[in-house]
Amino acid sequence: MPLSLAQMRRNYTLDGLPDETAPQDPLSLFRQWMQQARETEQAPVEANSMCLATVDAQGRPHCRVLLLKGFSDAGFTFFGHYQSAKGQDLAANPHAAMTFFWPALERQVRIEGQVARLDPRLSDAYFDSRSMASRLGAWASPQSQPLADRAQLEALLAQTAGRFADQLPPRPEHWGGYCLVPERLEFWQGRADRLHDRLDYRLHQGGWTHGRLAP
Ligand SMILES: Cc1cc2nc3c(=O)[nH]c(=O)nc-3n(C[C@H](O)[C@H](O)[C@H](O)COP(=O)(O)O)c2cc1C
Repeated sequence: MPLSLAQMRRNYTLDGLPDETAPQDPLSLFRQWMQQARETEQAPVEANSMCLATVDAQGRPHCRVLLLKGFSDAGFTFFGHYQSAKGQDLAANPHAAMTFFWPALERQVRIEGQVARLDPRLSDAYFDSRSMASRLGAWASPQSQPLADRAQLEALLAQTAGRFADQLPPRPEHWGGYCLVPERLEFWQGRADRLHDRLDYRLHQGGWTHGRLAP
């Protein structure tokens, strides 16, 4: 007999986040955790999948899963349709948050900051690295717009494929990258008996400070 949702719980015992080993720079810890997640998370979990939360012009939050496509001191990069719901949210309010959940490692990372569009040349370079099918999809799909039925989407795709029958589709202006510039990162490591570790990094006068939060 399966447990009820209320009875489902695991004790987390894999690792800890001691104060002594907390680095000054949260990016180095993120890099280490992402690398470990890539090595440890089993397919079909994609270590670079995360939940992105945005807030619309009415102050209502919306979140959805996206793939992180890169990160550096400059920020955390993802791609999508600029006129999509998330694109409209970000145009109205650049503040956003992303959450990674790596269950095999009993870890969560939360990142908050402001989002700007990526330099068009970087969006071009990423678009050009995508498969033909993905490129056509970016042209054909009016992301977040209502469709009458599946056939409408397939007709849009067929139309687009005809248009680009003898040329590689360039990046459409309505599609490209975003970069979230972090102001805050929180690293969560599950611990036994719900006494989890939480390291909280905040950007302060151009440098990172960190502290510990109660679980
Ligand atoms: C595993 C996974 C990865 C996804 N990756 C992306 C992505 O990188 N970019 C994107 O625009 N949508 C991606 N999506 C789809 C989004 O979750 C979402 O449906 C889409 O971006 C439209 O969201 P919006 O209407 O809030 O703008 C992904 C969904 C899943 C489940």
